[in-house]
Amino acid sequence: MSNSQEAVFLRGRSVELMPLGAADVSQVYLEWLNDKDVLRYRGPKSFPTTMAQLKDWVAGLPARGDLVLAIRVGGERKHIGNISLNDISWGHRSADLAIMIGAKDVWGHGYGADAIATLTTHAFRTMGLHRLSAQSPNPGFNAAVKKLGWRHEGTRREAFLLDGEFADVDCWGILAREWQAAGAAESGPRA
Ligand SMILES: CC(C)(COP(=O)(O)OP(=O)(O)OC[C@H]1O[C@@H](n2cnc3c(N)ncnc32)[C@H](O)[C@@H]1OP(=O)(O)O)[C@@H](O)C(=O)NCCC(=O)NCCS
Repeated sequence: MSNSQEAVFLRGRSVELMPLGAADVSQVYLEWLNDKDVLRYRGPKSFPTTMAQLKDWVAGLPARGDLVLAIRVGGERKHIGNISLNDISWGHRSADLAIMIGAKDVWGHGYGADAIATLTTHAFRTMGLHRLSAQSPNPGFNAAVKKLGWRHEGTRREAFLLDGEFADVDCWGILAREWQAAGAAESGPRA
C-alpha cells in the first residue's frame, strides 16, 4: 500500500508519477540503495547508504531544483522506483534524465520505458524544455531510450568498471521536435 499522501502528478500508460516525500522513505526504499543488482550499472558504493542519509536527501529535494518523482504502479500505487530531471537549465532549456527502478521483481514489465516516455512528454510539452540527455552503461536503459526515439550521441569509451572489465557508457539525447515527430502523443501521459 502506498504511504504517499501526495497527488498523482503525471499518468503514463501503466505508471503514475507522484512527488517523492518523507512518507516514501521506507526500509524497502533503503534496501534498493544498497542492493548490488540495482547498483550494478550505477556504480558500487564503498560506504552504505544509511536511513539518516536517505531521509536527509528526500528532505532536501525541494531546495535542489531537480524534478524527482516516485514511480507508482497498480491500484495500491506501489512505489517501485524514482525518475528525475536533474541539472535543469532554464537558460538552455535542457535537463538530464535519470531513472532507478528498485523493485527488481518488476524489471522488464515496461514500467521504465513508460516512465521515461511520460516524463519526456512533460519536459517538452509543459516545462517547455528543448533538449533532454541521459547516459548509462545499462543495456535495459539504453534499449528503452533507443526504442523511444532518443538519439545515440556518443560513447564514453570504457568509462565504467563492470565486474572487473571496462564497459562503455552510451550517451543519448532528444530534442523537442524529434519527440514530437516520433509520436509523443502515442507515448505520452494520458490526458
Ligand atoms: C534500466 C531500467 C530503468 C529499465 O526499466 P524496466 O522497467 O526494467 O525496462 P522496460 O521493461 O521498460 O524495458 C525497456 C526495454 O529494454 C529492454 N530491456 C530491459 N532489460 C534489459 C536488459 N537487461 N538487457 C537488454 N534489454 C533490456 C526491454 O526488453 C525493453 O525493450 P522491448 O520493449 O523491446 O522488449 C531498470 O532496470 C532500472 O532502473 N535498473 C536499475 C537502475 C539503473 O541501472 N538505471 C539506469 C541508469 S540511468
